[in-house]
Amino acid sequence: SGCNSESRGALVVLEGLDRSGKTSQSSRLLTYLEGLGHSVELWRFPDRSTNVGQMISSYLSNKSQLDDHTIHLLFSANRWEKRSLMETKLKTGTTLIVDRYSYSGVAFSSAKGLGDEWCKAPEIGLLAPDLVLYLDIQPEKAAERGGYGGEKYEQLEFQRKVAQCYQVLHDASWMIVDACRPIEDIEKQLQELVLECVMACQKGKPLANLWS
Ligand code: TYD
Repeated sequence: SGCNSESRGALVVLEGLDRSGKTSQSSRLLTYLEGLGHSVELWRFPDRSTNVGQMISSYLSNKSQLDDHTIHLLFSANRWEKRSLMETKLKTGTTLIVDRYSYSGVAFSSAKGLGDEWCKAPEIGLLAPDLVLYLDIQPEKAAERGGYGGEKYEQLEFQRKVAQCYQVLHDASWMIVDACRPIEDIEKQLQELVLECVMACQKGKPLANLWS
């Protein structure tokens, strides 16, 4: 199934509003690729297991307050501290399915009013995803799904702004997926997109840096 040591893994990112289904689709993708015999790991940002991640977690649960710029840079630092491991994994043939990445970083902070370019700057030089799967759902629909957990950003009005901010981030690596369809239909579509991407990476598609 193409696990030879010459070929690299794919960097696949899932993005979308809170309650768009990223987390359950990520784990379904993991199971799918494992089933095909691929080396694959599920990652997520923020990675709350690190010191920086704990500061972020405390902020999100309203246990600490931070200036908007400061928390933005912590989210970015949280990706930078994983960059070299990410590169090693990819180069040694492991595909990474990543639940949120730099696009969340930019969308959520620019929704608070920080400038787009300022938000993007600290992400420059992180690894560029080979594929971004944007799970597209109206903020109202996502809110109806319930389970907004009471964390900092989980409010309809703010999610509306985030949705708008995501709009300007689309590039060639993005696929917009209608996240209002039945879960199995979405799963099927994601499987096809990801498999195609994994193949392209195996065949030598070069790894790139953001923002390219
Ligand atoms: P996450 O841990 O994915 O929470 P959940 O499982 O509840 O979706 O993300 C926590 C919040 O952090 C989420 O509202 C999005 C936000 N976020 C940023 O503001 N910037 C970032 O760089 C990232 C990765 C997430």
